[in-house]
Amino acid sequence: MAKKVILAYSGGLDTSVIVRWLTDRGYEVITYTADVGQGEELSEIPQKAKASGAVEAIVEDLKEEFAKEYCLPTLRALALYEGKYPLTASLSRPLIAKKLVEYAERMGADFVAHGSTGKGNDQVRFEVSTWALNPSLKVLAPVREWEFRSREEEVEYALKHRIPVKVTKEKPYSIDKNLWGVSIECGPLEDPAVEPPEDAFEWTVSPERAPDTAEYVEVEFKEGTPVAIQGKHFQRLSDLILELNQVAGRHGVGRIDMVENRLVGIKSREVYEAPGATVLYQAYRELLSLVLDRFTFHYFLTHIPHEYAKVVYEGLWFSPLRSALDAFNLSLAKMVEGKVRLKLYKGKVSVVGRSSPKSLYVEDLATYSEKDAFDHKAGASFTQVFGLPLRVLGRVRRG
Ligand code: ARG
Repeated sequence: MAKKVILAYSGGLDTSVIVRWLTDRGYEVITYTADVGQGEELSEIPQKAKASGAVEAIVEDLKEEFAKEYCLPTLRALALYEGKYPLTASLSRPLIAKKLVEYAERMGADFVAHGSTGKGNDQVRFEVSTWALNPSLKVLAPVREWEFRSREEEVEYALKHRIPVKVTKEKPYSIDKNLWGVSIECGPLEDPAVEPPEDAFEWTVSPERAPDTAEYVEVEFKEGTPVAIQGKHFQRLSDLILELNQVAGRHGVGRIDMVENRLVGIKSREVYEAPGATVLYQAYRELLSLVLDRFTFHYFLTHIPHEYAKVVYEGLWFSPLRSALDAFNLSLAKMVEGKVRLKLYKGKVSVVGRSSPKSLYVEDLATYSEKDAFDHKAGASFTQVFGLPLRVLGRVRRG
């Protein structure tokens, strides 16, 4: 009996070649393709997979599950890897791995497979996620071990085996897309000193070509979930994010250019576009700052964004650490309610207004007008006690 394998399949050159390569080695290949909001037509995927040798091709719409179960918790953590990357590609891997495991169990397959290379993060995310869910599954990563040493050799193999390949001239970039953003690497981006060429970007215009008038966008949150933009309510979070990508993208908002530390020890130059996520991060942070007391807000900022980002980046999605952090963030998210007004202009997003029924901002306390209700004498006593340690120090220093 043939060995069954469920392959994460994008329909690109690598994964199409993998189908045939595994078939030649005695595997029966079932492809799995997820719609995570990459905005590509997937209707021809089954035909393509089968033409490459797959016995069955599964295509599933995971947009809403991805938005609610993966993007939203990451937003609530304000997680940015190394302070910059909103983790777009890192988030889709555990979800796809979970589906591969589900189908492997349902269809009696002992193997799952992916098309990641041996020097990236994605192999780690796919494999660690798979084993966390089902440690008896074996993972195949053909790209790590096959004989092809260049794209040209793969194309040659594809043509020889009548695997459908696009003959159009491809961009020199390696691109991964989902509704949370686009990751772009390789080609001219490999020189970190060089500005990314304009053709690297897909979802954002350059700030120079953005409209000359600013656009305001109002985002409304209920219990830590974005529910409306411009007063328009969305049933599905994925639709809200996709719309926000359009609005912010046409103002050139959400471009990120960085050198990041990969798990395998390499530094790599990465370019990202995350227009919607960039707006939502700013809006969420703004409401948190309004509804949380100082102690809790500072604790959150010190301990959560960086730690959560590392957990996601390093492929530990299905760890108790991630669920425990989620529980913490959820208890704060319940207080995140209200509206944030943001201004989009020439590649920049700035918060210009915020309001919340749970706001802790008290005008009587903050005002410098005659309405002031703050006890200024208390300020004097407070400052005395607060400043005591340095006052003592000053005395000792002066002998
Ligand atoms: N460096 C990013 C990450 O590790 C993006 C990887 C995206 N993959 C790709 N094939 N472009 O999450």
